[in-house]
Amino acid sequence: MSDTAIININGEAFEFPIITGSENEKAIDIKKLRGLTGGVTTIDPGYKNTGSCQSAITFLNGEEGVLRYRGYAIEDLAEKADFLEVAYALIFGDLPSKPQLEKFENDIKDNSLLDVDLRKILEAFPKSAHPMGVLASLTSALTAFNPTSVDVSSDEAMYNAIVKIMGKFPVLVAWTMRKNKGLPLNYGDNSLGYVENLLQMMFSKPNETYKINPIIKDALDKLLILHADHEQNCSTSTVRIVGSSHAGLFASLSAGISALWGPLHGGANQAVLEMLDAILQDGGDTAKYMAKAKDKSDPFRLMGFGHRVYKNFDPRAKIIKVAAKEVLDDLGVDDPILEIAKGLEQEALKDPYFVDRKLYPNVDFYSGIIYRAMGIPTEMFTVMFALGRLPGWIAQWKEMRARKEPIGRPRQIYIGENLRAFKNIENR
Ligand code: ACO
Repeated sequence: MSDTAIININGEAFEFPIITGSENEKAIDIKKLRGLTGGVTTIDPGYKNTGSCQSAITFLNGEEGVLRYRGYAIEDLAEKADFLEVAYALIFGDLPSKPQLEKFENDIKDNSLLDVDLRKILEAFPKSAHPMGVLASLTSALTAFNPTSVDVSSDEAMYNAIVKIMGKFPVLVAWTMRKNKGLPLNYGDNSLGYVENLLQMMFSKPNETYKINPIIKDALDKLLILHADHEQNCSTSTVRIVGSSHAGLFASLSAGISALWGPLHGGANQAVLEMLDAILQDGGDTAKYMAKAKDKSDPFRLMGFGHRVYKNFDPRAKIIKVAAKEVLDDLGVDDPILEIAKGLEQEALKDPYFVDRKLYPNVDFYSGIIYRAMGIPTEMFTVMFALGRLPGWIAQWKEMRARKEPIGRPRQIYIGENLRAFKNIENR
């Protein structure tokens, strides 16, 4: 393949370099396109063909179902590492040594208290508020409680901001759930690891000791690891683009949470469970819902199926499917929803509509089943996703600032009215 691309416009040829990534991915570098061609732009709604940056964080090959963070296979990380090690690798580039991990963990614990005034903001929300809206607001409010913006040129200032948000975010997650359930707002126990502490903050009751089930803890660790980054998806691109205006880290993360909320992105885990529940309530007729998903006049989509990038089995879904079975077996849960999920998966994998369009189960097809078995309310599922994605967002924000990327500002092709005469209001 030549290392340049020629674009012909009205008989004039313009040459552009082709850049190659470390996994041999190719991209036409059109940075000079407008300048050279006198303002011709490209159009690519949904950015299906557009690379917004060069990144050294996550590699994913959707055709082959490959996902790696910092070069480590997702299967290895899910099996052998814990969430904080993975967070460290994503944010700082390598898996931590023991002393590095210990320091990271202790620094996070030192930052795991929330200002009592932040609690008042949470208390002012109605119980009916969706936890994602509450989490986005509280994360944004953290900016008000930590007004100094991070000096991105200082490693120390960046590190302090990172351990601060990593420490405070799980408390926000737990409080968001406890508020909706009417449980007292509590703090964690610094003698516990990150994931154990999260479980105890979410589920402990003032009148009994909370016992951590190691199978639940392992499954949650895996879920968080599998959600930790996914290169330039909708919420991550949002975090990068908001940060590209030099907005602060917490404000950018709050925008990422809002982007994740939608059912076509992180909100899919909630939508999957609601869909499975609706099918169950409707008599469990999976064939009826398969037909609805294929009917172009019906807006219904099989939630948890399909992915913008994976045109093969989502490698995360494979791992989660096994974890779901382990958790349900351990807890002795016989959940009819799992049977519906398995039935839909089997039918879809052999149905020409899904096969031809390469629609496979994605990460969220099975995650909700585990969350539900753990006792996490359905509307908290996307919040759990946000907690998992936090290190990825931080890593991507940090990389974007370190690379001194320009402000994100796409172009458009205007298709509105041409210049027209202004009419006074009496004449309209
Ligand atoms: N059910 C039925 N048909 C589907 C589905 C689905 N879940 N997903 C895609 N299709 C069809 C589309 O109708 C389209 O058909 P056509 O070519 O006949 O018009 C074709 O497959 C391609 O779909 P697009 O929407 O163009 O693909 P895109 O890459 O834009 O969308 C997306 C990907 C949003 C994930 C889509 O597959 C979807 O809506 N899935 C359900 C929601 C979901 O599970 N989202 C979670 C994604 S994972 C994550 O964010 C963590």
